[in-house]
Formats: sequence, C-alpha cells, structure tokens
Amino acid sequence: MSESDFLAAFGRLPSATADAAGRVNLMGEHTDYNGGRVLPTAIPGRTRVWLARRDDGRVQAGSAAVGGAVESYTLGAESPRGTWLDYLQGITAELVRGGQALSGLDLWIESDVPVGSGLASSAAFEIAVLRGLRALYGLLLDDLELARLGQRAETRFVGANVGIMDQMAAVFADEHTALLLDTRTLAFERVPLPDTLEIGVIDSGVRHAHASGGYNERREECERAAALLGVRSLCELSVDALPRVLELPEPLARRARHAITEHARVGAAADALRAGDGDALRALFTASHASQRDDFAVSVPEVDRLVSLALKDEDVVAARLTGGGFGGSIVFVASRGRAHTAALRVLDAAALPHARVVVPARASHG
Ligand code: GLA
Repeated sequence: MSESDFLAAFGRLPSATADAAGRVNLMGEHTDYNGGRVLPTAIPGRTRVWLARRDDGRVQAGSAAVGGAVESYTLGAESPRGTWLDYLQGITAELVRGGQALSGLDLWIESDVPVGSGLASSAAFEIAVLRGLRALYGLLLDDLELARLGQRAETRFVGANVGIMDQMAAVFADEHTALLLDTRTLAFERVPLPDTLEIGVIDSGVRHAHASGGYNERREECERAAALLGVRSLCELSVDALPRVLELPEPLARRARHAITEHARVGAAADALRAGDGDALRALFTASHASQRDDFAVSVPEVDRLVSLALKDEDVVAARLTGGGFGGSIVFVASRGRAHTAALRVLDAAALPHARVVVPARASHG
C-alpha cells in the first residue's frame, strides 16, 4: 500500500523497506539511565519505512501521519527544527559524523505505534530508519550499534536525555518473551511470558513530551543523588543503602529511593513471570506504580485512575504506569484471553476522552 504513497510523494518506487516494533516495559522504570536492569517486551504496533537513494546529498521524508507533507534537508547540514524530522536528522547526523558515505535519501514512514504514549514510538522510528539505511547502503553496522546510534540521535540531537532501553527493545525484543536487559553491560536474557497470563496496554491519551517535560530533570536529580552518595549510578546501591539514601535532601531522597527499589523489583518481576506467579506480579506492579507516583512524581491523575480501576477488575492480575510517564500508558497483566474485555471495562469506567486500548488490539481465544 505504501509503495504507492512513496510513488505519489517521490515519483518512483522505493528500493528498500524496514520496520521496528514499539515496546511496553513490564518493570524497571527510569532504571536504564541509572545503570540498572529493565524488562520490556515488544508490542504488535510497528513503524515501517520505505526508502530509495538519492545522489544529490538531500534527504526528503514524508508520512501519512503528518498529512503526507514532505520535508527536506541537506546531509551534513542537519539542524534541529523541533518537529518529528529531528529524529531523522539526528540519525543521519550521527551516521555522517561516524564517516558513513550517505549520498541522499527519499523516505516514507508509516506507524501504528502511538506517539507520546510511553510505548517508545521514537525508538521504533529510529531503529526502522537505521535498519532501512543499513539495507539501502550496505552499512557495516551490527544490531548493538543500531541501538547505540538511535540513542545518540535522541540524546545529542533531539535533546531528550534518554537511556538505552527503548532502542535495545526495538532491536532485540519480541512479543513472546520479556527482554531482561542489563543496561550497564547490554547483556540480556529472554524471559518467556507465561501461558496463563496476557499483557494489556491502555493509553491514557494524556501526552508527554520528553524534551520539554520533566524527564531530563528527573535524570539530573538522579545524577545529583548518585554524586552525593558517592556512586557512579544509583542502581549500584541495594535496598540495604536506603537509610543513608533517605538522608539526602528532598526531592533527591525520594528520586533515589524510586530508582533503587524499582531496580530490586526488576529481577523479582522476571522471577514472577518465570513462575507464572500472579500474586507476586500484583504486589510488584502495585509497589512500582506507587513509587513512580509518590517518589519519582511521574504519574498523572488520569493514569492513576486507570491503574486503580484495572486493579478492581476481576480478570486483571496487576497494573502500573509504563514508560517515561508524565501521561502515557498503563501496562497490565490479565488472565490469558481476558485482557481485551478487561481493558474495555476499565476504559468504560474511566470515561477519559482520549484513552484507548492499545494491546491486545482485539479479543484473543487463547
Ligand atoms: C523513556 C526513555 C527510556 C526510559 C523510560 C523510563 O522511555 O526513552 O530510556 O528511561 O522512559 O523507564
């Protein structure tokens, strides 16, 4: 279908295509830039790109999501515009800086990963583009380099000082397992999702903006707390250090307590998944949500409402805010085959104007 959109936009057919999935994080929020572990899994939503080379050093890019308008710039002369194009400019700027011989590009983008919903739409876009460019130009980049390049595009060019969870998830996660990733070493193992349970995601419809929002501020607070505690990153500390942590000035004490307790919950959540232990997941998700709301202050009332309604539903096992916060989505765990109807009940009770069920897209018969 979008070959024809590409043709309409650029007057020729694409010569490569690539895609990458969004992710939902099951545990470990704001632990990635604190040197900790995370536990994301891929969602069915994907971003797909179609590409063709140009030889005039220009980049032209368009997407149905922005009304099909085509924007352009010159390779090597990238400069931030404060629009979605910055994610693309960030990537080509990084590749050019790294000495890759790009000569130009026409690009068409489509995505069903909701934007600004805590489901890593930017990373899905970055990794889809990087995979497409690797195929188009035969670039010698391994998968780990793709993740690192995507993250650098976002931190250096877009100005969102993100960790590496989302790009690693876009490259390596699948829908059947959770990726237990150590963000210090980038080593990971795949934790199978239990047959008895199913993952659901509801988008609150309240939008965040990382660059302008409190995300960078939270990261700085964590870095200040780590410096005061004499460690490189907060996740080096275990819960045994909490008495000392709580002597920090506020809000640093609460920020650090979140990072440290959340990090302890990641391994515990992986174990609970392996054991299919719904009670343990419920306790861990509930504690994680409270910590994000009260200590890290990244939740909003609409998201709190969705979580508390989900926890009252008979088929929901566990629920919490997922992703960077300041709006966005909740992730919940339900009995297998029940997530979609449970999500519809929660949505109905919440009566939020822009909320919607993202996962599962429809009822399954598992
Ligand atoms: C965003 C960032 C990630 C991570 C999460 C919070 O998704 O891109 O690096 O920090 O927020 O867990």
